[in-house]
Amino acid sequence: MNKRILSGVQSSGKLHLGNYFGAVKQHIELQHEAECFYFIANYHALTTIQDAKVLIKNTHDVALDYLVLGLDPNKAAFYRQSDVPEVAELTWILSTVTNMGLLERAVSYKEKIDKGIEASVGLFTYPVLMAADILIVRSHFVPVGKDQVQHLEMTADMAGKFNRAYGDVFPEPQPLIPKSETQAKVPGIDGQKMSKSYGNTIDIFAEGKPLEKTIMSIKTDSTPLGQPLDPDKCTVFALYSLFATEEEKATMAADYRAGKIGYGQAKKLLYAKIDAYFGPFRDKRKQLAQDRATVEDILQAGAKKARAEAEMTMELVRKATGLK
Ligand code: ADP
Ligand code: TRP
Repeated sequence: MNKRILSGVQSSGKLHLGNYFGAVKQHIELQHEAECFYFIANYHALTTIQDAKVLIKNTHDVALDYLVLGLDPNKAAFYRQSDVPEVAELTWILSTVTNMGLLERAVSYKEKIDKGIEASVGLFTYPVLMAADILIVRSHFVPVGKDQVQHLEMTADMAGKFNRAYGDVFPEPQPLIPKSETQAKVPGIDGQKMSKSYGNTIDIFAEGKPLEKTIMSIKTDSTPLGQPLDPDKCTVFALYSLFATEEEKATMAADYRAGKIGYGQAKKLLYAKIDAYFGPFRDKRKQLAQDRATVEDILQAGAKKARAEAEMTMELVRKATGLK
């Protein structure tokens, strides 16, 4: 694929299974197939975090997670959003071709204010900044979870409007959504979409007792032990299916239907899967966490690569619009 791929994750807390299966796993797989740009969206995170120490820690945590899980900085440009300030310049220019109505229809904005996040101008124009992230390197594909599809539609709208006004500068980017429904929208321990802001997450790097406690608290119905269970309506089964082979899934589904397994037992099997899958990455993470300089060097090198592209894009944009 001779195309460009870009994606970002906000540095707004610890990464969880939803982030991993909806986004990070694909990002790492795709780095072998195309030119990739991945970044830590710390400008976006300012819409919810107003504490410098917390923002710095979260940014470092996301960097560690990606690097330990397999992001190869020699293959993909990996950077901090704020190290490519051209993004902020492009945000302004795109905002002038963005209809208010388009932003007013943003579901994610409404959900965030419903949850009590302050309705700042930054939160409202969040999708414009996101479009600038994507368009600044003129990317073609954006691997994300299902919840980001509307933001991608808005990006395509902005790119189209800009191109119609000023000539073809931007490709219209397409989302890449995981094919499996469960992977595209991983459920949290309460059965809703797993999300940092719902407090229903299972963190990728949780381990031991805390991990066990979280898994044991996954909400299930009150069917008594020995009665048949419906795997298609069960969060434990959905999460298990993210890790299991087809055969293991079929066995668990049959045991559910035959009443041969209870939720407690299924939760133990899920714990074992998560532990086996992420366990090997934990030591590596603890080691890399000691080496801030290496992480910083990687982010700086990534920013240099992304900035070179961003500068080229901005030259086209400044010329096309008459700013230069
Ligand atoms: P959160 O909702 O926890 O704040 P982010 O908005 O930072 O997560 O999402 C980062 C990436 O992870 C995005 O590509 C998003 O689509 C994906 N993602 C987040 N939650 C899920 C989920 N429950 N299922 C699938 N993908 C998800
Ligand atoms: N809005 C995305 C999220 O909450 C994060 C993000 C910011 C992003 N800029 C992006 C994702 C550009 C993909 C491309 O998950």
